[in-house]
Amino acid sequence: MNRFYITTPIYYVNAEPHIGHAYTTIVADVLNRFYKMMGSRTFFLTGTDEHGDKIAQAARAEGISPKAYADRISGLFRQTWPKLDVQNDKFIRTTDSEHVQVVQYVLQKVYDAGEIYFSSYKGLYCVGCERFYTEREMVDGKCPDHDKPLIEREEANYFFRMSKYQDWLIEHLQSNPDCIRPERYRNEVLAFLREPLEDLCISRPAERLDWGIPLPFDANYVTYVWFDALLNYVSALGYPDGDLYRELWPVANHLIAKDILKPHGIYWPAMLKAAGIPMYRHLNVHGYWKSDEGKMSKSHGTVVRPLDMASVYGAEAFRYFLLREMVFGLDANFSKDALVQRINADLANDLGNLFSRSLAMTERYFDGQIPPFASEPDDMDRDLAGKVDNALHQFREEIPALGFHKALMAIWECIGAANKYIDYTAPWTLAKDPNLLPRLQTVMRTLLEVNRIVAVLVSPFMPATSSQMLQRLGLETRSADLRLESDGAWGTLVGGTKVFKGESLFPRVEAADKKQGKPPKPAQAGKKAEVAPKTEDTDAPQIDIDIFRQVDLRVGRITAAEKVPKSEKLVKLLVDIGENRQIVAGIAKTHPPEGLVGKQVVIVANLKPAKLMGIESHGMVLAVRDGNDLKLIVPEAETPPGGKIA
Ligand code: ME8
Repeated sequence: MNRFYITTPIYYVNAEPHIGHAYTTIVADVLNRFYKMMGSRTFFLTGTDEHGDKIAQAARAEGISPKAYADRISGLFRQTWPKLDVQNDKFIRTTDSEHVQVVQYVLQKVYDAGEIYFSSYKGLYCVGCERFYTEREMVDGKCPDHDKPLIEREEANYFFRMSKYQDWLIEHLQSNPDCIRPERYRNEVLAFLREPLEDLCISRPAERLDWGIPLPFDANYVTYVWFDALLNYVSALGYPDGDLYRELWPVANHLIAKDILKPHGIYWPAMLKAAGIPMYRHLNVHGYWKSDEGKMSKSHGTVVRPLDMASVYGAEAFRYFLLREMVFGLDANFSKDALVQRINADLANDLGNLFSRSLAMTERYFDGQIPPFASEPDDMDRDLAGKVDNALHQFREEIPALGFHKALMAIWECIGAANKYIDYTAPWTLAKDPNLLPRLQTVMRTLLEVNRIVAVLVSPFMPATSSQMLQRLGLETRSADLRLESDGAWGTLVGGTKVFKGESLFPRVEAADKKQGKPPKPAQAGKKAEVAPKTEDTDAPQIDIDIFRQVDLRVGRITAAEKVPKSEKLVKLLVDIGENRQIVAGIAKTHPPEGLVGKQVVIVANLKPAKLMGIESHGMVLAVRDGNDLKLIVPEAETPPGGKIA
């Protein structure tokens, strides 16, 4: 059986998750889902890097212990991934005792082999990077990454004989040209290796820094954070004798951005070689996300937070955007406008329309039942089938080669061709002539098959959308169970099965700062939800219980909340009622968004969708006015989401 092991960097717990972390982790998820679809046994590892100066400093700044601090931020990373539809198999923390044991085991092994020695070192040190810099590496006497002056420091420390592995590593990279991908990064590593390698300082005196793993052979020192962190990739598999290690290490694929190429391209291979562990299979290196044409930085307010994006635009759309927009290996720029444009053009217009048109016509002409292929295919049918084949082919070829945008382009070419096919075949005209029924059946069946294959192909990128599409096409298979070999085959829908169109897959969204059309005035928009009960309401006419029962009242939990820009009263919510509902409520004055997440509320779930300040609202949150105050109606006790009010 084929196997696939994918890792992300373990992220430092000194910053909250941002778009860069999300990108790497989503790419890992896409690859993992792809290999699963190909029938491979897969394993996907992510986690957090928790030792070292940087973390100790951040904890000090908050006045808490490094462990308590690491617990909090590590928790944020762990909670973020499922919300972005990421399904990792393991989440490792470098403070896990199993990991600590492996680090000490490897250090002892390498020390016993004579590959670690004790020596004094004087040099220029960067606290941010936690390392000494050589003259050659610094820029104007400063750290090239942090642009801060380096501090002179002398220390007796332990050193790993990294220089010894230089020739072996050059040889390995030359005889395994695809080991580091894309090629530009392999060349970059080979360029580093043209200069003599220095040995690596792998300890820090415990008196200066005690937040680290003690060296097993000298308790006065802790392990340098990189020597500790890199070993997560094997400790997570139960190295040295775990089954997972034996099974998966030979197919290890690391995924990183270019910022940490040197530790992964040089330190790690040398460490592996010294410890007698075989070299990893691939190091896959991507570029950097920038925002507003600059580097992401907290001080400039340019950090893009993935959960904010997911709550406003949906996790699926965000995943699609990241994978479609960045050419793997190159830098890319993030802007909300580009995201909105992709949602409206690619998702709402192309994919969403194809799906809803196809299903609406099946409902209209065949009472929702999948028709048979009832006539011979013509040229148009064959052209479309050619696009489907090409999309399948590109998907198979490009994803393992990290050409995600190319795979998506081929899928969207097929979606575009299917939309044109509808325009050319004009099923509404065929439907007028009973003699043309066989052709109408073939056209609609062809379209439904294309939609099914599109659902299969988008599944690694947008798993929830894929599952939705499959379900509405009357299929029981869900995204996670798809196998390309069987599910990518043409013609496997079962004639007569009922389809159902449902709500649009991707409603259009408005640009963040350029509102089209005339938005409702904030006062009016808010008024609806905030109208105080008039006295005559108490004398409201009596209604029949059947009329009341038509109102679908549900208990839900608010999973995301944010203020609607330029509105005092409106807040945009995601309410989990078994499915996530986007609701715009006029409660921001009394209920700021920060306090809403996690609250249970009661909503009207079958209200016709409306747009408030250009944002779609699919329901209404119930509240009661009390003077100037507004109080949310809540269930008496915790209730499962979706609970119906009877
Ligand atoms: O380096 N664009 O952790 P880290 C794209 N703990 N990707 C980005 C990015 C951006 N602007 N910013 C961050 C560490 N990333 C170490 C790793 S591994 C044994 C130890 C992503 O929290 C990208 O994957 O600084 C990058 O390599 C990683 O986050 C760095 O994460």
